[in-house]
Amino acid sequence: MKKHLLINGEQVETKEYSLLYSPYTREVIAEVAVANKDHVKQAITAAYEAQHVMANMPAHERARILEKLVELLKEQEDDAAKIITLETAKPIMFSKAEVARTIDTYKFAAEEAKRIHGETIPLDASAGGVGRIGYTVRKPIGVIGAITPFNFPMNLVAHKVGPAIASGNSIVLKPASQTPLSALFIADLLQKAGLPDGALNVITGAGRIIGDAIVEDDRVKMVTFTGSPGVGIGIRNKAGLKRTTLELGSNASLIIDKDVEIDRVIDRCIMGAFSNQGQVCISLQRIYVHEALYEEFVEKFVEATKKLKLGDPLDSETYISSLISMGDVERSLSWIEEAKRGNAKVVIGGKAQETILEPTVILDAEPQLKVSCQEVFAPIVLINKISSIDEAISYVNDSLYGLQAGIYTNNVKNALTAAENLHVGGVMINDVPTFRVDNMPYGGVKESGTGREGIKYAIEEMTELKLIVWNQNW
Ligand code: SIN
Repeated sequence: MKKHLLINGEQVETKEYSLLYSPYTREVIAEVAVANKDHVKQAITAAYEAQHVMANMPAHERARILEKLVELLKEQEDDAAKIITLETAKPIMFSKAEVARTIDTYKFAAEEAKRIHGETIPLDASAGGVGRIGYTVRKPIGVIGAITPFNFPMNLVAHKVGPAIASGNSIVLKPASQTPLSALFIADLLQKAGLPDGALNVITGAGRIIGDAIVEDDRVKMVTFTGSPGVGIGIRNKAGLKRTTLELGSNASLIIDKDVEIDRVIDRCIMGAFSNQGQVCISLQRIYVHEALYEEFVEKFVEATKKLKLGDPLDSETYISSLISMGDVERSLSWIEEAKRGNAKVVIGGKAQETILEPTVILDAEPQLKVSCQEVFAPIVLINKISSIDEAISYVNDSLYGLQAGIYTNNVKNALTAAENLHVGGVMINDVPTFRVDNMPYGGVKESGTGREGIKYAIEEMTELKLIVWNQNW
């Protein structure tokens, strides 16, 4: 199956195609076009020309296209989930959940398209403003370069494409090289839903060449990127006056207070740590449990981990399957070895079954170990003992990252202390940091990035505020 570029509504063939492998079966699942710099320029030209069509399209029409996409995607939910599983090895139960979220995300985008508004400004608050009427409107920013990751190949595309269309922009999308199929599937549905030619262009192939060509082109007014901090910081450094939204990594934490009933939180912690093989920016990586409950928590968490089914991602019972690449398996194993050398204890897992890294629980990991201070992006979780909430908060904050954090507690004072003092983009009280629904503001502080997604918030980033002042004295 050959997959071409999408430029100006046309399938564009390239000289070179690369083989795309399923991470689980390691069989070839597609041949994917490799774009060069000229293709990227053509895509930007198409988006540049389509920006006026999009900017002039009334809100109800932008909403209608997104509503139609939702309808088409609902009709093909099962196929969509299989595409995600095929190219990522995400277990099918999680791929189905991702498709359901993608539907939600585009629904929110359709709704928000009709709610983009400004405000009136009381200019007479200043003596110099008396006799003038001021109001703001939001104008589309223009051409948006969107670079998306492999771990949620459908819903994280939706978080960029949905608000961009809702707010009347045009897009050049570069999906992760491991997962182009989900993005092309959605692009095809959007064409069927009536999106004008050039409003969404999809460019596949070598990430660096495409990314650089997007960031360096003056016609692109914004770059929205989800991926690693290294690449994100590189984009920011080159972006000049372009607006950037960067959703980068984290080593997300959860605090468990001494008054918590452990049986109520185990399943949620398992989901937080191991769903999508831990390849989630808000995956639960560090758990800080009060010493009063520590032994009980470790025992019950390990017991629950033993029950997880590993294997074929298309099997509806499978909870853990392959990591996205063998390189990631090897990297994870080397970080586990480093932890062992640093006197941490691996109580379960720590090995790979070919491409599948066993869910791994590590105790007593020092903060400077890679499994602790870097983003593991694998099914590895650390459990550490704490003696107070303040101590736990200081461990959580001792991180380069700050995306989301969670605390389970029945103590209102401790919940408020955590909400106030955790240095992150979002604090989840009585839930894992992995909680996300698609209308909430989502983004981080420190090396977790800048800007916010969640449709309404992404639309704010993707529009320019324009002020209009009427002088009534004239
Ligand atoms: C991410 O990995 O950044 C996205 C997590 C999510 O949408 O649940």
